[in-house]
Amino acid sequence: MNNKQKDKQFGVGPLVHNGELYDFVNNIDVDFAFYKKWAHKVQGSVLELCAGTGRLTIPMKESGINIIGLDNTVSMINQARKKAKEKDLSLEFIKDDMRTFELNKRFSLIFIPFNSLQNIYSISDVENTFKRIKHHLYRKGLFIFDVFNPSIHFMVNGETNYVEQYRFTKEDGIEVVISEKCKYDPASQINRVKWKYEIGGNEFIEQLDMRCFYPLEMDTILKYNGFKIIEKFGDYNEAPFKSESPKQIYVCNIQ
Ligand SMILES: C[S@@+](CC[C@H](N)C(=O)[O-])C[C@H]1O[C@@H](n2cnc3c(N)ncnc32)[C@H](O)[C@@H]1O
Repeated sequence: MNNKQKDKQFGVGPLVHNGELYDFVNNIDVDFAFYKKWAHKVQGSVLELCAGTGRLTIPMKESGINIIGLDNTVSMINQARKKAKEKDLSLEFIKDDMRTFELNKRFSLIFIPFNSLQNIYSISDVENTFKRIKHHLYRKGLFIFDVFNPSIHFMVNGETNYVEQYRFTKEDGIEVVISEKCKYDPASQINRVKWKYEIGGNEFIEQLDMRCFYPLEMDTILKYNGFKIIEKFGDYNEAPFKSESPKQIYVCNIQ
């Protein structure tokens, strides 16, 4: 199977990346202080890849950071633009793909937050993304991203039943319940998560495929793609990465 066929086989369903539902599910700011700190540190222009609904982009812009967002899902971008407009913020959200984008400018920091790189399934697409990032970074610029520290235990334990994760009421009064079930596929290293949405009595099953990047694998991919790892943290408080860490958070520059 070639990479194009692989990409068609794996993916994320439209309800998972529906801007309105996304903001109900992801009303969190656990990573905000971390990304804001590094963005202030570089003192230059910042690009957020996979910016989604602007969960981080908008408050970062409000804190004075010179930032723009890029995402390839219309519903997410529309929600981001709507929220920025409501706040009277002049903030650009570009609809494009992180594997192929060309913005004809360079940045001091490019970051991919919140496991979003795990929406890329083939090694060649990771390499294409890294090439685009290098092309858009200043020579001394930083590339920062986070992915999960994969836990086979967690994924296999989650394979039996749907477990409720979220319950909320939308602005139109309709109740939404979201339950999750995992199915780990060892050959592709993809956790083939299914999210069951119950929306006002109707049921929808959505795919949420998450590519696992194993710690030494990711160290190696970065190295042979010309990135030097400056820091590798295990959480957003910048604890050193170790076996039990929930996350792998990389701070890199160009080798
Ligand atoms: C988990 S959300 C993260 C959104 C936002 N950064 C946040 O932290 O809340 C992942 C986002 O990645 C975007 N995405 C996935 N694949 C992409 C690609 N190839 N190019 C650009 N965006 C992509 C999706 O549209 C989605 O908005």
